[in-house]
Amino acid sequence: MMTVPYFDLKTQYASMREEILAALDRVCTNTAFCLGDEVAQFEKEFAAYCEAKHCIALNSGTSALHLALLAAGVGPNGEVITSPNTFIATAGAIAYTGAKTVFVDIDPATANLDPRLVERAITPRTKAILPIHLYGRPADMDALKRIAQAHKLALIEDACQAHGARYRGRRVGAIGDSGAFSFYPSKNLGAYGEGGAVITNDDRIAEYCRAARSHGESRRYFHDFIGYNYRMEGFQGAVLRVKLRRLDEWSARRKSLAARYHRRLSSARVELLRDDPQGESAHHLFVVYVENRDTVRHQLEEHGIGTAIHYPRPLHLQKALAPLGYRAGDFPLTERACERVLALPFFPEMSEEQVDYVAESLMEIAGKR
Ligand SMILES: Cc1ncc(COP(=O)(O)O)c(C=O)c1O
Repeated sequence: MMTVPYFDLKTQYASMREEILAALDRVCTNTAFCLGDEVAQFEKEFAAYCEAKHCIALNSGTSALHLALLAAGVGPNGEVITSPNTFIATAGAIAYTGAKTVFVDIDPATANLDPRLVERAITPRTKAILPIHLYGRPADMDALKRIAQAHKLALIEDACQAHGARYRGRRVGAIGDSGAFSFYPSKNLGAYGEGGAVITNDDRIAEYCRAARSHGESRRYFHDFIGYNYRMEGFQGAVLRVKLRRLDEWSARRKSLAARYHRRLSSARVELLRDDPQGESAHHLFVVYVENRDTVRHQLEEHGIGTAIHYPRPLHLQKALAPLGYRAGDFPLTERACERVLALPFFPEMSEEQVDYVAESLMEIAGKR
């Protein structure tokens, strides 16, 4: 029996060990442990990669969302519209600002925020729309941008899973006012620890985020407002620079593996997400929707195949967000997605044989159409 882990970073590290160790050594030699040269260089390189004017490197994607929201003027008494089909950090960051999270359901074909529902959820308190490019697949930015402009709302992209994805040829992250990226180790561009960044073309947003990540500092020890300690570590900047040089190659490999899964699963009794014709996914995760998901998952495990669930419980039904007052049944399409979603093994170092084995096993377990 073949074994296929859900995810693995060891092969990748082995392929670039010398370069990574040299990069870490540069940080130790320069003793630039917080921000510093490597981080400043990474900011330039990642901004260029995103085809955006500014990158502000931070200590997590959650911090990036938080600062992007604050920069947009989101605060107490405000509302932010987002999807409940995401990681808790999206709503957590909204809560940090004191604003209220207003959920709307997804388009089940894409698993992303449904723009038609966004428009109906706008109230006089709405300050921002926060779409998530879930699993690396761009949200419907044309429609969302039109709505944001018509209602004078900020449009902030949760691009934490979508490094390098494009929408109508443009990189995600600075299609809206700003975008938040995570460099959590398992992301397409992952640090060796925590990391994140805000991307923007707006000078004012960039200036705010730069000060806010360092206690509202405008000059050394001169603080214009109470900010945060959200600085990126030198080690992370150094590692991310090495990895950014390989990102396109990894993304191409992800694309090819995803296409192979698609072909091999075309007659399986599972549902696959529809690709937006305007979008070019970053292929962060490969998910299928399947009935009796937990049984299928268990049987795949018996075939030596690791899987994951992104996400088992929609945000509106999380205990932490109970004060928002939502109930089961409020967002049926998200709830149905969470009951059936299953993420298959997926990382650039996977072999074609492993993809075929996972697809064949899944076909055997879930059946054919
Ligand atoms: C959609 C989404 N938003 C936000 C985050 C938060 O990023 P971080 O874990 O770097 O704080 C993540 C990743 O963990 C994510 O997947």
